[in-house]
Amino acid sequence: MQPQRYAQYLEALGIELFVPRAGSARAATQAATATADSDEAAWTLLENEVRGCTLCALSQSRTQTVFGVGNRRTELLLVGEAPGADEDAQGEPFVGRAGQLLNAILRGMRWPRPTVYIANILKCRPPGNRDPSPEESACCTPYLHRQIDLIKPLMILAVGRVAAQNLLATETPISKLRGVVHHYGTRETPLIATYHPSYLLRSPGEKRRVWDDMKFLKAELEKRRAAAATG
Ligand code: URA
Repeated sequence: MQPQRYAQYLEALGIELFVPRAGSARAATQAATATADSDEAAWTLLENEVRGCTLCALSQSRTQTVFGVGNRRTELLLVGEAPGADEDAQGEPFVGRAGQLLNAILRGMRWPRPTVYIANILKCRPPGNRDPSPEESACCTPYLHRQIDLIKPLMILAVGRVAAQNLLATETPISKLRGVVHHYGTRETPLIATYHPSYLLRSPGEKRRVWDDMKFLKAELEKRRAAAATG
């Protein structure tokens, strides 16, 4: 069909013809490259800031900071509490016994660990694995907020009470935060909370509830993915 006739045909059907302006593809590529470059620079700056952080006393007792790991372009961000002894030694979140269980849960959901991003409320280990103090959380969460701004995940999974209560700025018990879609931050990123794998190691009978939370998360994520795809 001749281009002009094709345009008339589309017009008759009420379909707008998209005519790319000369150079628009190149401009879009340049804009995407500039965004990728500035994101890369922002990640490097943030990683260096965290590595050198001395904002709270945990900087004195840590072996190293535990920044976060995984796919920076993921749809799903997992946020835990704080590094334990294994994480402090290896510099990566969730690598101890709780991490092994978390990996198994992720595998069960067909989300292998490298496909998601994993971070914690605190970047340094609290001695004796005590809960983060409000001051430590206040010092450290701006780093996490910057990570979330860079990743722009479709959804966040808060892993355990400390993560859920910090991200949602609430003291509501985790048992009451589960099963509902909350929203985090100015972008109102949907957030779901579940029990911490350390809790499951102590109370294996609760695994069923975590499985329910994961299925709920998957369904919500798929809904949002479909909505994002149709624009
Ligand atoms: N528990 C957490 O919440 N985070 C870790 O990185 C390890 C254990």
